[in-house]
Formats: sequence, structure tokens, C-alpha cells
Amino acid sequence: MGVLTLLRDNGEVICQRTGKNLEVVAVSARSRTKDRGMDLSDLAWEEDPIALARRDDVDVVLEMVGGETGTALELVETALRNGKSVVTANKALLAHDGMRLSRLAEENGVQLLFEAAVAGGIPAVKGLREGLAGNQIKMVYGILNGTCNYILSSMRETGRGFDAVLAEAQELGYAEAEPSLDVDGYDAAHKLTLLASMAFGTQLDFDKLQVEGIRRISAPDIQIADELGYRIKLLGLARRLPDGSIEQFVRPVLVPKESEIGKVEGVFNAVVANGNYVDEVMMVGRGAGAGPTASAVVSDLVDLARGTSVPTLGVPCDALTPAKLSNDEDLYRAVYMHLTILDQPGALAKVAEIFGREEISIASLIQREGREGLPVSLIIITHEARFANIRAARKELDALPIVVEPMHMMIIQEL
Ligand SMILES: NC(=O)c1ccc[n+]([C@@H]2O[C@H](COP(=O)([O-])OP(=O)(O)OC[C@H]3O[C@@H](n4cnc5c(N)ncnc54)[C@H](OP(=O)(O)O)[C@@H]3O)[C@@H](O)[C@H]2O)c1
Repeated sequence: MGVLTLLRDNGEVICQRTGKNLEVVAVSARSRTKDRGMDLSDLAWEEDPIALARRDDVDVVLEMVGGETGTALELVETALRNGKSVVTANKALLAHDGMRLSRLAEENGVQLLFEAAVAGGIPAVKGLREGLAGNQIKMVYGILNGTCNYILSSMRETGRGFDAVLAEAQELGYAEAEPSLDVDGYDAAHKLTLLASMAFGTQLDFDKLQVEGIRRISAPDIQIADELGYRIKLLGLARRLPDGSIEQFVRPVLVPKESEIGKVEGVFNAVVANGNYVDEVMMVGRGAGAGPTASAVVSDLVDLARGTSVPTLGVPCDALTPAKLSNDEDLYRAVYMHLTILDQPGALAKVAEIFGREEISIASLIQREGREGLPVSLIIITHEARFANIRAARKELDALPIVVEPMHMMIIQEL
């Protein structure tokens, strides 16, 4: 509905900018009678959404259905095969099937555009693909899921745990009834897959992305990170390393709270790109909602109306290269470890011995007492160490008889 409302409200300025009237030919959804808060009676209705893609009087099909298969996929494929450009907000579809669909668009001489699929109202796709096209991109990263950022901000502000804040976010409509796509990191991963491809001219490869969500983050994690000068953010990051390989992940990380990304709170998203001529560019805005999403969708429609032409991922499909991914084990990282251990004499010595053996030096160590006789929290911040050693230490620590549950570990990302 957001797109229809925007086109009605802003039709004049869009006409001025494109020299064309954008006409909505027909619409479709599951239910015709559902109350959508606006009158659709003056628009033609198709019971079968795929019929939209076959109409001779349609130039562009908007796919706002969602999902990586089913109706969304059939609609996009049919439209492209029938020589119609497609505007989609569907990152899941593109992350999984974007290579094939971009190729289909090229073969049929039409365009597949997706500004709304990454960070909602932020013009991140155009910013990176068009605005920074003259740069070699070193790194792109961001807060790509407003639901997770809202939950993390709210946990910090209120001191409450993940489950309580998620339940509240669901009541407020910031989180879906089935929250997995958001809180387990997959939605952000779909978006990062698209950003990484545009940044580095590489083929989309969602399956190789490391993804971890925010379910295991506890209120004490957030509070202690705050005391140490950090915010916990679900970060999607892709960067080219000096050997040409690409490091990429979506996971909760600690970022300095004074960093620009650390200051992005609540439902806001942010996308940061670093180019070799432009340096760092940061875009912040609303990543979801009817208005911001419509703004992004219509920006693609405006491009089509103006006759602008761009390969879906910024590079013709045949010129996209396979991404050579970095070997995580060889990277040097500082980490935050949260162990829950039995309060016994000699416990710290056992922990320290493992760090010594794995050649990891400790930057700070905090012990939080619980109630008498209960396990205690041990928080360790390390200096940078080889990640293979950090993983080995984690395994050894988790196996100690004094450790009562698997530790929670997060990378510290200086940005
Ligand atoms: N919501 C956002 O803020 C936002 C932001 C950026 C991108 N997106 C993307 O936009 C897409 C849609 O998300 P949404 O949140 O707007 O979902 P939504 O509120 O559930 O809307 C989906 C629409 O598709 C229609 N639909 C679903 N299945 C259909 C089918 N089998 N046949 C015909 N119509 C069908 C629904 O019809 P009924 O209304 O009749 O059920 C509804 O109009 C997703 O790809 C999402 O990732 C959303």
C-alpha cells in the first residue's frame, strides 16, 4: 500500500522528474476484500498475481510478495521472460536465486532492480552500485536488520533479557510472530550477500556466508560491554583482505560505543562503505516500514521511467567473478569471552594456563559474583590473536570441569 500511497501523494514531483506519468495498471494480492486502509476500487484486480506478468499493457512488475520460492519467484521469472522489468523488495529471493534471475533479465533485455531489498529506505544499493562506482571498495558493513537493532538497544536501555524484549517487539509490530529470519541473522545475511557482490564484483554466494544471530546475547553481556566502552551490534561485514580474499560474516560483535556505527540505535539501519578514493561513506535511515520501503521501490521506478540502465549487481553477470573467501583461522582478532564457572580455588589458574598455551594475551578480566555458592561469570577481553588459537582455547575452556555451560564469545570489531 505504501507504494500506491506514495505514487498518489507524490505523482506530480515524480512526473516532473521523469517526464512521465507512472500509471498503476493492475494490482493483486491474496485477498481482495482485506481492509488495506485505502480504496483500491478504481484499480484493475488480478486474482492470479502471475497474470500481471503476462499483461500486454504492463511495462514493469513490482514484486512485494516475499519468500524465496513460490509466487514471488514465479512472478519475477514470468515477468522477466515476458520482457518486463521487475522491481522487487525481496532480498531472500535475490540472495538465493539472484544470479539466475539477473541473467534472465539480461537475456531478455530488461532490468531487475532491488533498492528496497537492502536497508529499506536507505539508498544503499544505488549509493554503492552507482554513487561509488569509481572506487575500489575495501569494505562494506552495516546494521542491516532493524528488528535486531531494536532488541539490542532495548535490552541495553531496560536491562531486560532477550525473550522479554523480543515479546515486546512482537507486540509493537517490530518483530514477526515467527522471528527466526530476523533474530537468527538470515535477513541481514541476505542483504550482506547483495552488498558484497556489488562491492567486489563477485557472484552471489549466500551459502558460504557465516551467520550467527542474537539469541544468545544476555543482559549481562550488554551491560558489561557497555562498562568496557562497547555496544553489541548485529553486524554484517564484507572486506577485501590484502591477499585478495574476502572476509564476510553476519554476527553480533562488540563495536566501540563512540564509533558512528555504535551510535545507531533502535529500528535504524546503517550501511557504511569504504572506497579507495572516497574514503568512508555512511548512510543511516529506516530499514523497514511502508514509507521507507515505498521510497526505495519508487526510486527504482523513477530510474526505469528515466531510461537509466544498470546491470542488477552493477556488473554484467558474465563479468562477476567467484568470491575467494578468506580463511578465518589465519585472521587475527580480539574477542570477548563470557564464561560461567564454578567458584573454586585455582579456577582462574586453569583458565590462564589455557590462554598461555594458546599464546593469547588477556587485555582485561572481570569476575562477577552471583549469589553465594552459585557459578560466577568470568568475562575476558583478549588482545588480537590468531583466530585458530582462539577457537582452540574456546574448545579447551568449554571442556574444563569448572565451566558449567558453553561460553558466549563475540569478536571485537574496531571500526
Ligand atoms: N515490510 C517492510 O518494511 C519491508 C522492507 C523491505 C523489504 N520488504 C520485503 O517486501 C516483501 C514483502 O514483505 P511485507 O512485510 O510487505 O509482507 P506482507 O505484509 O506479508 O505483504 C505481502 C503481500 O503479498 C501478498 N501475497 C502473499 N502471498 C501471496 C500469494 N501467494 N499470492 C498473491 N499475493 C500474495 C499479500 O497479500 P494479502 O495482503 O492479501 O495477504 C500481501 O499483500 C518481502 O520480500 C520483504 O522482505 C519488506
